[in-house]
Amino acid sequence: MKTYNTVKIEKEGGITWVILNRPEKRNCMSPELHFEMVDVLIELESDPETRVLILTGEGESWCAGQDLKAFFRELDGKPAERRRAEWATHEWRWRHLLTFPVPTIAMVNGYCFGGGFTQLVACDIAIAAEEATFGLSEINFGIFPGGIVSRVIADAMSYRDALYYSLTGDTFDGKQAAEMRLVNYAVPLDKLRDETVKLANKLIDKNPAALRATKEVFKTCRNMDYTHAEEYIGAKLVALRATDPEKGRDEGIKQFIDDKTYRPGLESYQRKE
Ligand code: ACO
Repeated sequence: MKTYNTVKIEKEGGITWVILNRPEKRNCMSPELHFEMVDVLIELESDPETRVLILTGEGESWCAGQDLKAFFRELDGKPAERRRAEWATHEWRWRHLLTFPVPTIAMVNGYCFGGGFTQLVACDIAIAAEEATFGLSEINFGIFPGGIVSRVIADAMSYRDALYYSLTGDTFDGKQAAEMRLVNYAVPLDKLRDETVKLANKLIDKNPAALRATKEVFKTCRNMDYTHAEEYIGAKLVALRATDPEKGRDEGIKQFIDDKTYRPGLESYQRKE
């Protein structure tokens, strides 16, 4: 794996840790970080060792949003450079992370501000430290949640919470983020890594083709009408059955109906790896 200036990659037991690595700048996102992240995700998308991706931040911050100096002020008056940086920020966080082929977990270890909400929502699952601090702070410096933050908070926050927090700029902690369902759950910071690894290992035990299809189908059909969704889901089920290398559907039914070795309501079938 290549090395990068602003991102660290660590791999262990099927888990790939993608760590935003500008702790001295609270992991705010510079154009360089965006370009590097495009490359990181393209590399990892076809990496057989990556069974689950965990996105986190080095130090006390998850991501302090866009870099107000390098991404905003320094690109003023440079339309082509701004366009390139805007392409990259959208490309990695929305195009690649949203549709990443294996499950993705946002492990929010500290500050999560502004533009950081985009990758938070793009990840499939989010776990926060109770002590983490979230904020839609844009209003505090005279703008509003840009990029696609105003759109993604409509997916992941209630109407009331999204408007309240984007209008006031008030912060909230990890416990509150879990109560409002912006993250799945919050745990004390000293347990965050262990709990996240536990979840990642649970996912690693599942059928990879079924995991991929599950997230693709859910994310794609959310905006379809019922007729299109039924047709699309039906086609994806046929495609999964035809292409799953471990033939999970047939194997699972065999182990339940014939072998009587497990109950699919309560656990996964035994995979042969
Ligand atoms: N853009 C540019 N620089 C930043 C950012 C940012 N978003 N966040 C932190 N930094 C820099 C600071 O300027 C400082 O740099 P310096 O050491 O060269 O002076 C360094 O990171 C450390 O920041 P401090 O403010 O000293 O750290 P502290 O731990 O006290 O506070 C906090 C951290 C709360 C994250 C604070 O830095 C902050 O409020 N940052 C802005 C967060 C924000 O509003 N993000 C939304 C950006 S807009 C968008 O995303 C669309």
